[in-house]
Amino acid sequence: MEFVHQKSVNTECIDELEQTVIQKLIAGAIDARKKSYSPYSHFQVGAALLTGDGQIITGCNIENAAYGPTNCAERTAFFKAVSDGIRDFRAIAIVGSPEGDEVTQYAYPCGVCRQVMMEFCNPASFQIIVAKSEQDYRVMTLQEILPEGFGPDNLC
Ligand code: THU
Repeated sequence: MEFVHQKSVNTECIDELEQTVIQKLIAGAIDARKKSYSPYSHFQVGAALLTGDGQIITGCNIENAAYGPTNCAERTAFFKAVSDGIRDFRAIAIVGSPEGDEVTQYAYPCGVCRQVMMEFCNPASFQIIVAKSEQDYRVMTLQEILPEGFGPDNLC
């Protein structure tokens, strides 16, 4: 299979993640996606969050019959980590696609998840990896997908 590692342009100042680390994160997200509770949308998402000290915290989307309480995979991973006292993050891998083993698209984080990332991450260096497989992914910073974001620094 062809290896597709697409990188957006504006990445000079970011601390490069090793490819093996990226692939480990994607494998974690693929695994977490298997736990997705999505009986309403049938859209399964897994996320794997890399902490400053190298831990990987995973999450899946968790839906609800009342729809509104649904939690995205990314926020599940963030809230698991923060509730365990971790607030230092380097990157997140996201794998999302309609039900089934085959991942047919790059699933970008929703607006609410981007805002949660803004709360805990440096937008210039936090890296987001959207993947179809361990060999086919895109890497970008939070700043690139949430330009001029509002965050904790605005309140100082
Ligand atoms: N979803 C995520 O888990 N992450 C996102 O960033 C976008 C959407 C979930 C929520 C819902 O369970 C399903 O995908 C369809 O929207």
